[in-house]
Amino acid sequence: MSTTTQYQFVIRGGRPLVGEVEISGAKNAVVAILPAVILADEPCIIENVPNISDVEISLRILTELGAKVERLAADKYRIDATGIRSACVPYESARKMRASYYFMGALLGRFGHSRVSMPGGCPLGDRPIDQHIKAFRKLGAVCKVDRGMVDITSDGLKGNQIFFDVVTVGATMNAILAAVKAEGLTVIENAAKEPHIVDLASFLNSMGADIMGAGTDTIKIRGVKYLRGTSYAVIPDQIEAGTYMVAAAATGGNVLVKNVIPKHLESIISVMEKIGVKIEQFDDSVRVSVDGPLVKTSIKTRPHPGFPTDMQPQVSTLLCLADGTSMIKEGVSEQRFQYVEELRRMGADIQVDGKVAVIEGTGSLTGAPVKACDLRAGAALMIAGLAASGVTTIEDIYHIERGYSEMEQKLRALGAEITKEPVAAVNPVRRQTEQDAV
Ligand code: EPU
Repeated sequence: MSTTTQYQFVIRGGRPLVGEVEISGAKNAVVAILPAVILADEPCIIENVPNISDVEISLRILTELGAKVERLAADKYRIDATGIRSACVPYESARKMRASYYFMGALLGRFGHSRVSMPGGCPLGDRPIDQHIKAFRKLGAVCKVDRGMVDITSDGLKGNQIFFDVVTVGATMNAILAAVKAEGLTVIENAAKEPHIVDLASFLNSMGADIMGAGTDTIKIRGVKYLRGTSYAVIPDQIEAGTYMVAAAATGGNVLVKNVIPKHLESIISVMEKIGVKIEQFDDSVRVSVDGPLVKTSIKTRPHPGFPTDMQPQVSTLLCLADGTSMIKEGVSEQRFQYVEELRRMGADIQVDGKVAVIEGTGSLTGAPVKACDLRAGAALMIAGLAASGVTTIEDIYHIERGYSEMEQKLRALGAEITKEPVAAVNPVRRQTEQDAV
């Protein structure tokens, strides 16, 4: 029987983060841009690609489909998808990453049909894809689920009006991917407005697509027949930037967060300033420091340009260290409070009732063995561990490595005491706790 070594982060907290950190390319942009290369009629070069496992999985799927992938530098790939002949992504490949659903739109846009596994279960609860399917159907496709696969066929896609019943990032991206080579005009209404949607549209436009209005709630796409090769750099990751900004504040540090687009950080900056964090903005960087007490606030997460759900666990962690009672309302994602249980192990006082969390600031946290239950929960626990007194061990770090490029190295360069170690070697405390719980 083969065993895979599980790793954990071990953090000795209580040290202020000081220095500079370079933000990598945006996960939620690159996981759509890589499948979008399938639509190109010539090879493409993609730069500022983050070193994360979601990228690894996307590149593996492209290779399995028949694309040639060449790594030109640490963050730069040349991808030739012209040789792809298969439009099928099986369960084994698709289940590892929820965003594999972008292969549906991209393969459909290229071949007029696709067969991609239904995305599997997800730690964030029920995440339906009915709006993705609605968009494909509006473009003239027939969609059915057959033995776990979403089977999409068409006699050629035709532009149409698509109105989304909910604001959804994934379905907006998938509609763009499917419509970009469809015949005639597609108008997407009630579209999501996130920076990664603009980035996908900019990437496709750099190949000769005709997409207007990305970043607003109405996107117009006039189908084109041919998309040339391009060389394109992915935008910086706003959530990675926000995570380091909160980590700097939570440790009472002073960090210059580089390679960011400050405009994308507006809602995060506004909330952090309300909490009492000092933020200076420059052209492509922000400096975060703390020169007074952290104070309570109330937050509601919303689609862009509102405060992002993907920053909620991190900022909630910061509010555990603030004075007073804060209230968080989750307005986007269903199960975004699963990290609370783990934070309580570190001394947090948080009560959750449905989509609302009430946080009593305790001013401090203490190190403990904890588990990451999803990507942003993992980021929150990293911040908690950095701010806490004593040692924190974080298991299930594969969640964190899905979306944060070289986090351990970046944090160490900022003065954090953090190591990555095999689980069995250093975590007898956690295993004892689990045995006790039986
Ligand atoms: N929804 C539907 N039907 C659909 C699609 C979505 O009802 O067909 C609902 C969802 O259940 C949810 C809401 O619409 O309540 C928003 O979902 P959305 O489609 O916007 O989410 P997503 O595309 O699945 C992306 C990010 C998530 C991020 C959300 C919200 C990617 C790959 N993922 O997910 O990122 O939380 O948008 O901004 O872009 C993360 O990075 O940690 C992460 C989970």
